[in-house]
Amino acid sequence: MSSQRVLSRRPSNPVVIIADKVERKPHLVALLQNLRQENSKLPPERVIKYAVCNTGPDIALALRNHRKNTRMALIGPGLQGNGWTVARMLCKRFQVLMALEPEFLKSPLNQRIKEGLESLGVIIVLVENATAGFFKPLIENHVLSEASPADELMTMSPQERAQIIEKRLEMVSKFPTLPETQRKVSALDDLDHPKKWAEAIDPDVLTRTVILRLLNSAFYGFRSRVVSIEQAVSLASGKAIREIVLACQIRQLFAKIEEKTVEQYWKHSIATGFFAKLFSLPAEPKAQTPTQQAEFSRFRLDDLQVGLLQKARLWEKLALGPKQEPFSGGLLHDIGKITMLMCLEECLELITVLIAEEVREQDQQGKLWASSVDQIERFLMVDIDHQVIGHRLAQQWEMDAKVCEVIGFHHAPQETSSNLLKLMVLADLAANALFPYPALESQHPLPRLFERTAALARKRPARTMSESVYNATCAQFEELAGVFAGLGAPPWLWEQIDFKDFFHLCYMLAPKLRVATLGFIQQTGA
Ligand SMILES: [Fe+2]
Ligand SMILES: [Fe+2]
Repeated sequence: MSSQRVLSRRPSNPVVIIADKVERKPHLVALLQNLRQENSKLPPERVIKYAVCNTGPDIALALRNHRKNTRMALIGPGLQGNGWTVARMLCKRFQVLMALEPEFLKSPLNQRIKEGLESLGVIIVLVENATAGFFKPLIENHVLSEASPADELMTMSPQERAQIIEKRLEMVSKFPTLPETQRKVSALDDLDHPKKWAEAIDPDVLTRTVILRLLNSAFYGFRSRVVSIEQAVSLASGKAIREIVLACQIRQLFAKIEEKTVEQYWKHSIATGFFAKLFSLPAEPKAQTPTQQAEFSRFRLDDLQVGLLQKARLWEKLALGPKQEPFSGGLLHDIGKITMLMCLEECLELITVLIAEEVREQDQQGKLWASSVDQIERFLMVDIDHQVIGHRLAQQWEMDAKVCEVIGFHHAPQETSSNLLKLMVLADLAANALFPYPALESQHPLPRLFERTAALARKRPARTMSESVYNATCAQFEELAGVFAGLGAPPWLWEQIDFKDFFHLCYMLAPKLRVATLGFIQQTGA
């Protein structure tokens, strides 16, 4: 797939990325002539090399090969895919030039995008003006000098950097608006009369249908048939209805995205919601309210699974306030990832190609790849990742401050962070073991460790299955510790629960959580 041609791997040579179709076009001839001319004056260790790329993913790989010395990229009209998006993503990584055909600038929308990109430092030129004289000073200023937009960012104050992030996000014109029913339901109190709930939900036929379908499914297990929203609220509680409304509203909102991995995203998000809910519920019957008892029993856990949750006591160690909603937090924590699919259409391709490359490299060394996707996003975009984008959306939607914190900081928890955030970090890890995103199950280290644990437990059976799994977990403890650290879990998190116990708990709960997640996805789908 890749036409990427990297001519040098010497670290000191500056690299220019040429992202265009290789043709004898005047703007490419002018650039190459210029490079040749400069190179004739340079010593071999400073000679400018170039990488020719056909697609956005090719650019990501070239950047990975030359992470320290990529100085500039020319995005030409021959680049496959959306050059605007690629420029928007990478403009703070290196100097981006864009050479455009004149007809591109005829539409007012493209004009606006052009102006926005220029305000971020992207240099835009019409192909006919991209002459040798145009390139010469750019090569001097951006390729031969050591300065790069990323270095420039590093010298700025946090406030200045925040302003640049803000400016980059402002360019994202396609942030979705909060759906109407969700807005109405979030204004309701759990104790409001069921009639009020019905007034808010009934006009939205799709959401109403999904609620009734879900409440009549085996997961909720009500004896009588639920036929109205009023009855649904009385039977299942306002909180339960709120969770379902959120799930179907957000799914409807992003239903337009034609990206085959969206289903994988929902599995990850809903599994995170369910793990967060289960970890937050008291596992001892005497500590449960009637609503909690109903919620807990829906997972249909066996005695052993309940015993493990009782031993972990996460509901006590990371106790939440009454108004906090762990399921909603889990459902929304990665909302930045799906928003990125909407506003930076090509980003997923660039990210997944880098994941595949990293997995391949680690596999060759006999190691598990363990890195968090936000690190890859930051490698490409500097200062912007799905947390930053999600946080911006959550603020725009005026979401609860604790949920905003979860969305914006779940990969950077601090000891002073809220319990909801800490709980979400654990739930996210647990969900990754079942349904990672965007890494595939075959790539993500936690499903791979699950598989190894199963094989090891079968090979060396103990008295019970749980014991075999625990022994297998302990046998891999060093690798497991490395994987959790690589995924960004801070060491202090394991003061709440030993990491081996946590892995064991997740493994033992996984079959029930898989069933709950897939059932919920099926029932809430359009
Ligand atoms: Fe995340
Ligand atoms: Fe996640």
